[in-house]
Amino acid sequence: MNSNLLADTSRPNPVAPALRSKAELRAALADARRDGRSIGLVPTMGFLHEGHLSLVRAARAECGLVVVSVFVNPTQFGPGEDLDRYPRNEDRDLRLAGEAGADLVFAPPVAEVYPEGFCTAVEIAGGLTEVLDGDPSRRGPGHFRGVATVVAKLFNLAQPDAAYFGQKDAQQAAVIRRMARDLDFPVRIEVLPTVREPDGLAMSSRNAYLGPAERERATALSRALATVERCAREDALGIGLEAGRRELLEAGIEPEYLEARDPDTLERVKALGDRPVLVALAAQVGPARLIDNVLIHPNT
Ligand code: PAJ
Repeated sequence: MNSNLLADTSRPNPVAPALRSKAELRAALADARRDGRSIGLVPTMGFLHEGHLSLVRAARAECGLVVVSVFVNPTQFGPGEDLDRYPRNEDRDLRLAGEAGADLVFAPPVAEVYPEGFCTAVEIAGGLTEVLDGDPSRRGPGHFRGVATVVAKLFNLAQPDAAYFGQKDAQQAAVIRRMARDLDFPVRIEVLPTVREPDGLAMSSRNAYLGPAERERATALSRALATVERCAREDALGIGLEAGRRELLEAGIEPEYLEARDPDTLERVKALGDRPVLVALAAQVGPARLIDNVLIHPNT
């Protein structure tokens, strides 16, 4: 094992070392694999918070070597989106990742991931990528093309045994599960629950954009989802969606969508039956476009 590439766990607060090149990553992982350690991958865009760290801790509990990628992936941002102002703090990310149990952080420059002449993409067909955030009037299918392409590259580079994603991005999780299945990536996809602030707001790097009044208004998102869930359990999903929408409007938030869908196919659902129902929401709150969702399991 090339131990100088790994976090020094003998110190109380290890800082995860940052690898910049694909060659360094491959070398570090080949050593680990030769030692029979399983590899866990946690893809992120950095500015880590407890949501990300919950994924790192799960990977730490299950895998022999934990890689966190920190890469603000330009191909998943549309024109006019927040690529340029996306929050970054690499020193803090390396410390938090190390403390949560990451052995190394892969933080490549853009040209390492997308070299001159790069022209390949992974596309997951419309049913999953043209609804909700993928609707052409919103982020559009190009967003998920960018996500799927970079995640496919990370899977090929790290060849992880398991990769960890958050339920917070439910559509992304559905897209990645489908990609892994359709393209036979030999990786176990783990999707972990959304981590929330004490007042219910789903943690997100983009919450950093919110001023105090917007931060307060943003609590309406999780409240609206709770309303929809309560109604769905009383066999009134449609009424719940209406009530949730009203609750958002009363907080001065116009939802881009508030919809009930199947969590795997993303087809619309009209009632809570014997399958889980995903209720997904997106809304602009001041300068931040926020998403949240609740996965309703029947009879729980
Ligand atoms: P990012 O937004 O940084 O999120 C990285 C991972 O953390 C995703 O799997 C996301 O679902 C998860 N996550 C974010 N907030 C969470 C929360 N509050 N609770 C639990 N998990 C949470 O998602 C991306 O980056 C990118 O699209 C990426 C997959 C890295 C591809 O570029």
